[in-house]
Amino acid sequence: LLARLGQKSLVLVGMPGAGKSSVGRRLAKRLGLPFFDADDEIEKAAGMTIPEIFASRGEAEFRLGEKRVVARLLQSGPNVVATGGGAFMTEETRAAIRAGGISVWLRADLPTLLRRVKKRNDRPLLAQGDAAERLAALLAAREHLYALADLTVDSREVLHDTVVDDVIARA
Ligand code: S3P
Repeated sequence: LLARLGQKSLVLVGMPGAGKSSVGRRLAKRLGLPFFDADDEIEKAAGMTIPEIFASRGEAEFRLGEKRVVARLLQSGPNVVATGGGAFMTEETRAAIRAGGISVWLRADLPTLLRRVKKRNDRPLLAQGDAAERLAALLAAREHLYALADLTVDSREVLHDTVVDDVIARA
């Protein structure tokens, strides 16, 4: 896998609650590569939390920052990068990931996602209204684009290490 990556990064995409950050951190350790969480990098660059960015600048500005951060992380590869759930939805960001990375869609079903997102309430897109309904709508709108990733790995597995093994075996 490391040989196949070369300068490219392994980029995890998928819905909030798919396990991108947890799996990414473990994957990086196993591969001996640096790990970056794109959301954390966006917060550092902006000096604000993600809810603050959404509230003060709006989603469009957030997506611009996200595009810049993802491009920078790809340039410094090989890295393991966990993206935010919407990164792969922005055409230019998706194109950059497809050019400079091997993308992996961590796929999970709605009940799994819902169970996991309930542990954190810092996601502006899920903050209003019924989280289950919002999540279902996002999944329905996004699935066909996540499917453009180089590889799809089932991340319903409770043990993140099993998912890590799977990615390494198949990437
Ligand atoms: C978003 C997902 C979040 C974060 C932002 C927007 C999305 O990341 O980037 O709140 O559009 O799905 P996670 O997937 O890590 O929750």
